[in-house]
Amino acid sequence: MKGFSIKTEIEEFDTFEQFAKYIKLGADDLVLCGEHTYNDYVLSLNTGVQTLFREKYSKGEPTDGDVDAILDALRDKKYDRIIAIGGGTVIDIAKVVAVAGHDDKVDDLYDNVENLKKVHPLIIIPTTCGTGSEVTNISVINRVSKGVKMGLASDAMLPDKAVLITDLLSSLPYKIFATSSIDAMVHSVESFLSPNGCSISRVFSTEALKIIITCWDKAVSEGGGDAWNKYAKDFLKASNFAGLGFGYAGCAAVHACAYPLGSVYHIPHGQSNQLMFASVMKKYKELQPQGRINDLEEVIAKTLNVSQDKALEALYELMDNVLKSEPLKEFGVKESDLPVFAKDVAATQLRLLKNNYIPLSEEQLLEIYKAAF
Ligand SMILES: [Fe+2]
Repeated sequence: MKGFSIKTEIEEFDTFEQFAKYIKLGADDLVLCGEHTYNDYVLSLNTGVQTLFREKYSKGEPTDGDVDAILDALRDKKYDRIIAIGGGTVIDIAKVVAVAGHDDKVDDLYDNVENLKKVHPLIIIPTTCGTGSEVTNISVINRVSKGVKMGLASDAMLPDKAVLITDLLSSLPYKIFATSSIDAMVHSVESFLSPNGCSISRVFSTEALKIIITCWDKAVSEGGGDAWNKYAKDFLKASNFAGLGFGYAGCAAVHACAYPLGSVYHIPHGQSNQLMFASVMKKYKELQPQGRINDLEEVIAKTLNVSQDKALEALYELMDNVLKSEPLKEFGVKESDLPVFAKDVAATQLRLLKNNYIPLSEEQLLEIYKAAF
């Protein structure tokens, strides 16, 4: 068992300007972000930073082709630190860029994962309240050339700094708030239940879960919509805590089953997790009703003030009030896809499936897909 450690320095600022002054942002830095983020927060500071705007290369979640084009574009630029400001896509791209050597392509990195080394210092500033990726060593790329969306994990990709700036969440659209906070909730639950967690990682998973469902509950009872804004700082912190939890204990079957929905049907990451969440949890309860899942129910029950036997149902209902879940078929998924997905997941997502509350066979994964269909 490895020891729990936090290798990324975590800092909090109220505004981007305070942060920029603190780290002396300047011409040796490469800022990787969306162009609107640059215009809203960086441009007026006249720092002279170099920039790479993700939408020039990547429209959705990153593919190997997108990242290869970015590596090409950066190949002969001279810069020191990488400052990534964005959601999961920007962070995943930045982690890969930080470890890519002069001639590397994405395939070279996957083929050489044991020997990756940090080439550029990496500073990550999340602009959603979901990924927690600012404190993890994983980058997820849709490897279109191989037909699979899978994570690249190496401690060389651990960010040197994660910077939490609440102000950057102020223009987050509701749908992205909803899907990203659902992603963070799923990180907290999967890492809580993971047999590869430890007592310290579970402190972060538990706290993240408590904060998220408390703030969801308040925002929903205050009418939903923009009510979540009041709790932006809490959601950002909870997303970070969930990242610390799953960075150690891992995510599991919900993320594994969600990946084909992202790579084949382009359903956003957090939403595809939502579509699989209840089906996975119900299968866990059916197969092993006694165990750590009861501790999870206890946390939820106490936080939402419901009885323990109703805790998971209360969580599904609350999540539905944040964003209505739909059956997979409403997203164009075909029944004939399900056995293909189950087979693929069983074969390619072992990195995640080893963190399941209990082991799941390909047949059981298919039953989970059918229940979500
Ligand atoms: Fe996730």
